[in-house]
Amino acid sequence: MWRYLHTRRGRKVGEYRRLADLVRQHARGNSFADVGCMWGVNGEHAFIAEEAGATAVTAVDVFGPTPEFEAEHTRRTSTVRFILGDVAAPDTLDRIGVVDVVFCAGVLYHHPSPYDLLVALRRICAKTLILRTSTIPEVDGLPNAAVYFPLLPDPARHLWNLRSLGVKWQAGITAPFEPRDGYGNWFWGLTPSCLRSLVETAGFRVEATEPEPFAQTLVCTPVSVAFSHRLPDEVEARSMAAAISSAAIATPA
Ligand SMILES: C[S@@+](CC[C@H](N)C(=O)[O-])C[C@H]1O[C@@H](n2cnc3c(N)ncnc32)[C@H](O)[C@@H]1O
Repeated sequence: MWRYLHTRRGRKVGEYRRLADLVRQHARGNSFADVGCMWGVNGEHAFIAEEAGATAVTAVDVFGPTPEFEAEHTRRTSTVRFILGDVAAPDTLDRIGVVDVVFCAGVLYHHPSPYDLLVALRRICAKTLILRTSTIPEVDGLPNAAVYFPLLPDPARHLWNLRSLGVKWQAGITAPFEPRDGYGNWFWGLTPSCLRSLVETAGFRVEATEPEPFAQTLVCTPVSVAFSHRLPDEVEARSMAAAISSAAIATPA
């Protein structure tokens, strides 16, 4: 109903199947990385990018490659490079290097620290980020709200079960949070406003948004150096400390 009403009003709405079009649109002539490439899709978006004319394609995941990925790789005589690694880990970022287009779908809400994950994506992104993630509806009067799913009391956890929308299993929501499932768990329900603020503070400008009631697709460009906190050396740190003390601006919060 939501989709029907929004489309009738001429609004652009997102859907999972649109991702292949976005990949084709942005991949040609660019290097490309598909972060979180494997579960249920076996690297399909990476292969689409290669077919669309990407200059070099990297597919990254914390498991795999699956037999389906390897069979398709052979069938296509593909040059897609698979990296087994956690994208939030510095050594994985080094192995990926900087690429023109970063594609990351279905990963952000699986990470306990989505901001860190976005900063990691920013570090490897030269031109475009295509980001799709599950979200929750805005909370009236509470912009930038988010829900941390692990350890919610049962009735509050059931509220976020999307079975009626066709999502068969949400680890950590369908059943209680299971620490051993790691990134398989759903960690964060971000509202679209919260997602946008995270994306922007991680160093991206949002160029286009394709909303859905429980998901958002954003196309972004990197705009400034990703957030980092510079640690001063010991001499500078002492002089900062002296300046703060003499200005008497440090009061316990
Ligand atoms: C829900 S699936 C999405 C698969 C595909 N991108 C899609 O949109 O259909 C999430 C994928 O991200 C991978 N993943 C989760 N956290 C990751 C991380 N920190 N680094 C790399 N891959 C990760 C999972 O193993 C899984 O294959």
